[in-house]
Amino acid sequence: MDKLKITGGARLNGPVRISGAKNSALPAMAACLLTEGELILENMPMVNDILTTRRLLRELGAEVEFDGGNTARLKATRIASHEAPYDLVKTMRASVLVLGPLLARFGKARVSLPGGCAIGARPIDLHIKGFEKLGATVNTEYGYVEAVANRLKGANIVFEKITVTGTENLMMAAALAEGQSTLVNAALEPEISDLADLLNKMGAKISGAGTSVITIEGVETLHGATHSIIPDRIETGTFLVAGAISESNLELTRCNPSHLSGVIEKLREAGAVIEEGADSMRVRGGNELRSADVITHEYPGFATDMQAQYMAMMTQAKGISLITESIFENRFMHASELMRMGANIRIDGSRAVVAGKSRLTGATVIASDLRASASLVLAALVAEGVTTVDRIYHLDRGYEKIEEKLRSFGAQIERLK
Ligand code: EPZ
Repeated sequence: MDKLKITGGARLNGPVRISGAKNSALPAMAACLLTEGELILENMPMVNDILTTRRLLRELGAEVEFDGGNTARLKATRIASHEAPYDLVKTMRASVLVLGPLLARFGKARVSLPGGCAIGARPIDLHIKGFEKLGATVNTEYGYVEAVANRLKGANIVFEKITVTGTENLMMAAALAEGQSTLVNAALEPEISDLADLLNKMGAKISGAGTSVITIEGVETLHGATHSIIPDRIETGTFLVAGAISESNLELTRCNPSHLSGVIEKLREAGAVIEEGADSMRVRGGNELRSADVITHEYPGFATDMQAQYMAMMTQAKGISLITESIFENRFMHASELMRMGANIRIDGSRAVVAGKSRLTGATVIASDLRASASLVLAALVAEGVTTVDRIYHLDRGYEKIEEKLRSFGAQIERLK
């Protein structure tokens, strides 16, 4: 397993280009199953979760080609299988996003239940309830969800809880259903609006994406389209923290500041200096950071996918900060590794109390999930000495060429194969 070796204390200086959003590219790829036509997806992040989705779609019988850059061509003229196997789903729970499109276009889908993950139980009961509302018969047995339907029928679906991939799965299914559907208490994340934009380019009739009520007029068929994936707001936030906690002057290009206003506001409250442009930002570090409490929340609140990175930042802030994780029940795995580097953190259920500023020193630490690994890399950038981050396959799932980007603006980092 690859590791990252990081020597802390380097000044970071220069531009970094933000990649396309992983959490937008994944549902966009699944959308190719909704049509015989070709999808051309641009600004795709070349991260491992995208490659896993390529493998899954190919196993289903779709053609998926990358042009060696960041453009993908996807075509599911016919499919050879309706099954997303356990071996793939266990490595990436977003595989569940093929369920809606398969069911809507082919009338059946068999998808392995994702099971729990490092950050929480993460059931898909709300997805299943939604498909039943659209008229599907759904059975869950032998570790698989099996759903069948002649043709889905439009329905009014009220989510008991806000779910991002649940909203995406049902939006894709309802696009080919007979009649009108409404999704109430839908997720507001920018990735939802991006998927709706793509589906509308394919001939769908979706309105209200980005609000809590989405209306979908089902159509008979969808056609091919070309679409450029939005910038990754979590990668953007991660680099903002890299800039804020280190002596730095970073320019982030090809990003969308309006997609992470909740995060920017909190980082500024903690003392970060951030300038915003239309599609770029500048962050200057080196100022004294101060503690600021945060509660993670659905969009447009403070993203749970930024919580771990923020915790690393709070170890470098003067004072006591309280971090409350309200979305996932087990998302503090990074805390014990940060403590191994000298951080002062107390965990009490869904709350973490961080006392700063701590003197961090290099250590060998283990990544437990995607965003936890990012927080360890950030801490290592300011720790004295050398840190080795193990199990960085987690990082590779969602960050495109992160060590090259960090090295390009001055970080002392290398990948140990
Ligand atoms: C998406 O996961 C993202 N993944 C996650 O990003 C992100 O953390 C999460 O949304 C929240 O913002 C992708 O988009 C691929 P949810 P998702 O359904 O859709 C509960 C990253 O780091 N719930 O919005 O799986 C659930 O357990 C990843 O890039 C149910 O109870 O999250 C959680 O507590 C990690 N039943 C809450 O809702 C359901 O049927 C929100 O989950 C569905 C969800």
